[in-house]
Amino acid sequence: MTDSGSVSVVVLGAGLGTRMASGVAKVLHAVGGLPLVGHVARAAGGLGAGRVVVVHGPGMEAVVAAVRAALPGVPVAGAEQAERLGTGHAVLMAREALAGRPGPVVVVYGDTPLIGTATLRRLADEVLRGRAVAVAGMRPADPGPYGRLVVGADGTLERIVEAKDASEAERAITLCNAGVMAVDGRVLWALLEQVQPNNAKGEYYLTDLVGLARARGLSCGTIEADADEVVGVNSRVELAEVEALFQARQRKAAMLAGATLTDPASVWFSHDTVLGRDVTVGPCVVFGPGVTVGDDVVIKGFCHLEGAKIEAGAQVGPYARLRPGAAIGPAAHIGNFVEVKQAVIEAGAKVNHLSYVGDAHVGAKANVGAGTITCNYDGFVKAQTEIGAGAFIGSNTALVAPVRVGAGAIVAAGSVIVADVAADALAVARGKQEQKAGWAARFRAARAAAKLKSKRG
Ligand code: UD1
Ligand code: MG
Repeated sequence: MTDSGSVSVVVLGAGLGTRMASGVAKVLHAVGGLPLVGHVARAAGGLGAGRVVVVHGPGMEAVVAAVRAALPGVPVAGAEQAERLGTGHAVLMAREALAGRPGPVVVVYGDTPLIGTATLRRLADEVLRGRAVAVAGMRPADPGPYGRLVVGADGTLERIVEAKDASEAERAITLCNAGVMAVDGRVLWALLEQVQPNNAKGEYYLTDLVGLARARGLSCGTIEADADEVVGVNSRVELAEVEALFQARQRKAAMLAGATLTDPASVWFSHDTVLGRDVTVGPCVVFGPGVTVGDDVVIKGFCHLEGAKIEAGAQVGPYARLRPGAAIGPAAHIGNFVEVKQAVIEAGAKVNHLSYVGDAHVGAKANVGAGTITCNYDGFVKAQTEIGAGAFIGSNTALVAPVRVGAGAIVAAGSVIVADVAADALAVARGKQEQKAGWAARFRAARAAAKLKSKRG
């Protein structure tokens, strides 16, 4: 029903977030590696909103930037609220940016990251059907501090009363204001101008719009949302609770899309993790932002991955660390205690044990032996290591970059490679072994005799 281009969204993110005890704006704290306000922005993006306005506090332009980053291609405007005089005052800050837009204006709080597009759409549709204001209600286990929705006998919304201003009878109402509403753009600004700060907190309450609209004979309604979807973050304890809800959702979605998680509760996803089909993820795996995993990949336990692409059929871990720019080719193997950063590991190559591969290109089917280190940093700049297809790097090799090992070359174990190795050559770069026959036996005899003599003497 929604003519999406006509809908506008106002994201409120100017609150002080005092209970976070933080130097960072509350709505910039992250869930699943994305700022709270980024999640809200994505839900708004799904709505196809024609314009998004972010209300932020002084010096908090980073809040607008976070919304822009989450909504590429959508026009996003920032509106500063210099003084935090309440949620009604905050929405008024968006007036200029929304001038001449008569469609539904969806107002959503930046601290409710699990809100879904469908709920926003239902609200906008209520307005398109003729409601002046539509509010999302929820029934939380503990309604305590939330605003209560006073619904009349005819099922329409009469007013919202904040917990602090509510009578005992009103506090007994279980339907609470979830913190998201849609308002008819033709009446929003006139109604907001009427809001007065005559309440317990001395603030301009957005929630007063409902009573004001009813006083004009306009119709207001509610929709009901799942309390888990509209849960707000006000403290770090709630941040952790919301993270847990988010992770539970991601785990379920991954399994329903065809991944096996042997111990789902210990796998941590980012907002943007992409898993192919028939991927197996072992216990205690952390997906940081920017990880894409192809079909049939096996990620064994205790891996930490971020900014990495893993192609079909590859095996990673246990205990592997993939850092940004790691590109693991089809059927390649990355084994235990291996760190890969900004490096391409081509198809079928193996780096199986105790290695650091950074700023490197490892050709197809190359074998990088245990304990190999790419020495990519001289304290000033990073340099590149090239390992050709089918090359064999012996264990405990240091490759001092910039350096190239040609295709099919063999590097002897324990080498320190400082010069390029030609294709199909053998490079040995270590101390030559000397051997002295019988030396150890003579040494032991001499030392034993000396010890005996010192005891007797
Ligand atoms: C608000 C609602 C309450 C609802 C609850 C749901 C009002 C008056 N009350 O209360 O009915 O049950 O949310 O979570 O709206 N903000 C600004 N500028 C301000 C004040 C707030 O931008 O001057 C922003 C905050 O950043 C936040 C949002 O508005 O994202 C909500 O503010 P908050 O102080 O958390 O409101 P609540 O007291 O939780
Ligand atoms: Mg709140």
